Amino acid sequence: MTIIFKQLSPTFMAEVSSLDLRTMQDQPSLERLRAGMTEYGVLVFKGQELSFQEQLDFAQRLDGVLHAKTSSSVLVKNRFGNEALTDISNVGADGAILAADDRRRMNGISNRIWHTDASFEDPAGRYSMLFARNIPPVRADTEFADMRAAYDALDDKMKATIDSLHVHHSIAYSRHTMGFDFSPEEKAKLPGATHPLVRVFSDSPRKALYLASHAERVIEWPVPEGRLLLKDLIEHATRPEFLGHHEWALGDLVIWDNRTTMHRARPFDDKAYKRELTRVTTLDLPRQSAVAQAA
Ligand code: OGA
Ligand code: MN
Repeated sequence: MTIIFKQLSPTFMAEVSSLDLRTMQDQPSLERLRAGMTEYGVLVFKGQELSFQEQLDFAQRLDGVLHAKTSSSVLVKNRFGNEALTDISNVGADGAILAADDRRRMNGISNRIWHTDASFEDPAGRYSMLFARNIPPVRADTEFADMRAAYDALDDKMKATIDSLHVHHSIAYSRHTMGFDFSPEEKAKLPGATHPLVRVFSDSPRKALYLASHAERVIEWPVPEGRLLLKDLIEHATRPEFLGHHEWALGDLVIWDNRTTMHRARPFDDKAYKRELTRVTTLDLPRQSAVAQAA
């Protein structure tokens, strides 16, 4: 199968030529998509028709083991009955728009701050695959930041300063900064996780900044100094030249690599319009053991 990538932003993101992901089974094609993910960080597939099961199956074929620990799972039971199929919507189990003070809405609205999925877990998320099932008649884009271009643009002194640092990520922390607090019982299920601040990869010589609003503190530094560093780096990484955005259409599937990009949802009138997408995220396990675990 011929697969062509058309780059969408100056440094990253590409649209993939027309293909049907339901029937993509052959290893060379899947390998080409993985290589496209390594090169571009974000891939856009137009005109897909995916049932819940087809979305889950494709994610496993592409990248191994699925992530089932989402922050909203500590709040309410998933309305699709499968925690690996994350409900990215403003709609409740009854099909109606969530009330402004609904706790799932208040948690979900924090997708509007820069983040990378499941960085507060270990293993964290690798690929996230978000599929548009119901799109509002107004813009409600997703924005992305290229964390490899952002790393490359740092000066050598800063690279040397940060290359060996580690960061603790906590969703209880990032939600608290938004005025949303988990209960002690909920918090106990979300202890957070520690990851390197600079990611290196076996399949590419390029390094990436691994940042998110979940980034709570730099392990090796006093808390205030660490927070100032994280704020500076996020400000740097979200300069316009490192950004791209996706304007959704029905049937779009967008896949991003959480290790090399950050993302955020852009605001829209979520009390007037429904917006319903489903996300499947894979675990950031070495590919060999991912294959072994999936077997
Ligand atoms: C996500 C997410 C952004 C959006 O699905 O992880 O952050 O625009 N989504 O819905
Ligand atoms: Mn997200």
